[in-house]
Amino acid sequence: MSQDDTDAMSRAADFELSDDTPANPLRTPTFGDIVNRRLGRRHTVKGMLAVTALSAAGTAGLWPAAGREAPAQGSVFAFDEIEAGIDETHHVAPGYDADVLIRWGDPVVPGAPAFDPLNQTAAAQARQFGYNCDFIGYLPLPRGSGNSDRGLLFVNHEYTNEELMFPGLGGQDETGYSRMTRELVDIEMAAHGASVVEVEKTGGKWRVRHDSPYNRRITALSTNMRISGPAAGHDRMKTAADPSGTRVVGTINNCAGGQTPWGTFLTAEENFHGYFQNEDAVAGHAEERNFKRYGVPGQRYDWGRHHDRFDIGKEPNEPNRFGWIVEVDPYDPASEPIKRTALGRFKHEGAETVVNKDGRVVCYMGDDQRFDYVYKFVSEGRYDFSDPAANGDLLDSGTLFVARFDADGSLAWLPLVHGSGPLDAEHGFQGQADVLIETRRAADLLGATPMDRPEDVEPNPATGRVYVMLTNNSKRKGDDTDAANPRGPNPHGHIVEMTSPDGDHGALEYRWEILVRCGSPNDPGTGSEWGAATTENGWFEDPDNAAVDGKGRLWVSTDGNKPGAHSNRSDGLWAMETDGALRGTGRHFFRAPVGAELCGPRFTPDDRTLFVAVQHPADAGAKKWVPFGRASTFEDPATRWPDFRPGMPPRPSVVAITKKDGGPIGG
Ligand code: FEO
Ligand code: CA
Ligand code: CA
Repeated sequence: MSQDDTDAMSRAADFELSDDTPANPLRTPTFGDIVNRRLGRRHTVKGMLAVTALSAAGTAGLWPAAGREAPAQGSVFAFDEIEAGIDETHHVAPGYDADVLIRWGDPVVPGAPAFDPLNQTAAAQARQFGYNCDFIGYLPLPRGSGNSDRGLLFVNHEYTNEELMFPGLGGQDETGYSRMTRELVDIEMAAHGASVVEVEKTGGKWRVRHDSPYNRRITALSTNMRISGPAAGHDRMKTAADPSGTRVVGTINNCAGGQTPWGTFLTAEENFHGYFQNEDAVAGHAEERNFKRYGVPGQRYDWGRHHDRFDIGKEPNEPNRFGWIVEVDPYDPASEPIKRTALGRFKHEGAETVVNKDGRVVCYMGDDQRFDYVYKFVSEGRYDFSDPAANGDLLDSGTLFVARFDADGSLAWLPLVHGSGPLDAEHGFQGQADVLIETRRAADLLGATPMDRPEDVEPNPATGRVYVMLTNNSKRKGDDTDAANPRGPNPHGHIVEMTSPDGDHGALEYRWEILVRCGSPNDPGTGSEWGAATTENGWFEDPDNAAVDGKGRLWVSTDGNKPGAHSNRSDGLWAMETDGALRGTGRHFFRAPVGAELCGPRFTPDDRTLFVAVQHPADAGAKKWVPFGRASTFEDPATRWPDFRPGMPPRPSVVAITKKDGGPIGG
């Protein structure tokens, strides 16, 4: 989702985050905060030295993080980077192919009709590939085989662009009145959710198997789901349609996600607030405090006019049933997705898991809003490698933690457990269900560190390090920075590297440092924290999604590079150096068409295919593209990528990238 969209969807929440009201009024400065402010430090390393000098107890620890190799010369990647820029199509590094695999509207479920954008129906859309592909997961077929040539692709459909989907019908008229009829809303709801498609590579090229029994659509309109974990069945989860509080229809705003070692996908419900309406119902509502902390109702979509459950005046608990991590078993197409409440309720960006050295499963997550937090969940049970099918409910029991980044380079994971500290009845938490339903408020009370929009949180199993994409934060003031969010405002974003001690992802204390402050190297205060120079094409801003390949190398995709202000380049994919002399520099590998963000990046197990998702090509940001320079609509889009056929609108699509010689991606 672009910054503009997020801004629009965050109106109500911004009210809380206005200049007059700090994001986290309960946060007390740490010793490190005070030191950092006094020093006005520019670089973590310098600050580290200062903190060490000031700390009589020497609590600052060692630096760099223990176990790091001595810097080596040269890049770990071997490809010629592409030129940064903007045009109507996509670009990939020389020697690679980037082939469109599946597009919005393509048949998914066997027998689905062909795409006809002028005669779209909800029934057709519910069997076709949805809109705005985001997260991509890949699991091999047969199950457990490690096959990199045949598997199940899981793709999220985060949200819809009415102005690009519907000919002359979507969006609002000039008076602001919604043109969205019940029929159009139902098409939108069917275009949300996720797709599972079987894919295979033959003769070096990928194709979708349209006859596969695994193919399925999960939608906001009609997919039944189960709610599990500590909040399931709680009174605050009950509605007229579901007096049990354990059943819900659909999933919305599914952004990034993850895949588990037992062969399921996790999909993250992000900006759920935008689908609810009726601002008049907020004041005096039993959930008023909860609504305000999450920006409910966001009123971006007009679903509540046609479906009562999205009107908070009519169905006050429905928002509590969204904002969760949803688990899907793709190997059983009849399985019900499960909302795992133990992982907390917030604007979830992703949910990547690692099996810890002690067998517990750890899931890293970001809450993508300005001044919100980084989380991890640690399972109570241990993963059974001998029987993957026995691990199905590991995500129902465990501890959710939120991160506090201290200025001395240490990181504390604070447990969100009812009865500990302020998470008690006095503060409105009667039990763990309340803590999870209002995860954000619980994290506020614990003094977590408000971050610059945490997106993907990507563990590197090879090193025990974990990368946090922080997209940007236009609202951070210069006098409200901290060591982990050192720029105010921060229009370009940055990446923080967290290091678990000896690769123990269950530990309560980590160390952290900034990998790169994104943006043009011509801007002061930008670039690698270790001082390496980047190339003209190697820098970017707005890091969003990330992947770690089989060699342990980091790849970053972006959401927010655009014509005009800031980078004046398209979003895309950059290979990131994390060690050695080039640490913190990027190398441009793939470029998206104008208006699109790039999502998904997912490698096959053999690293010989990289799937990426091109989301919202020709989006509103394209208006500032000089050759175009006007509103981008269904009738007159900034690009008709990927078909380039008269009358065919732009289509969010998954692209399969392979090397022409069949070798691994990135060399
Ligand atoms: Fe949907 Fe946080 O991007
Ligand atoms: Ca994403
Ligand atoms: Ca995102």
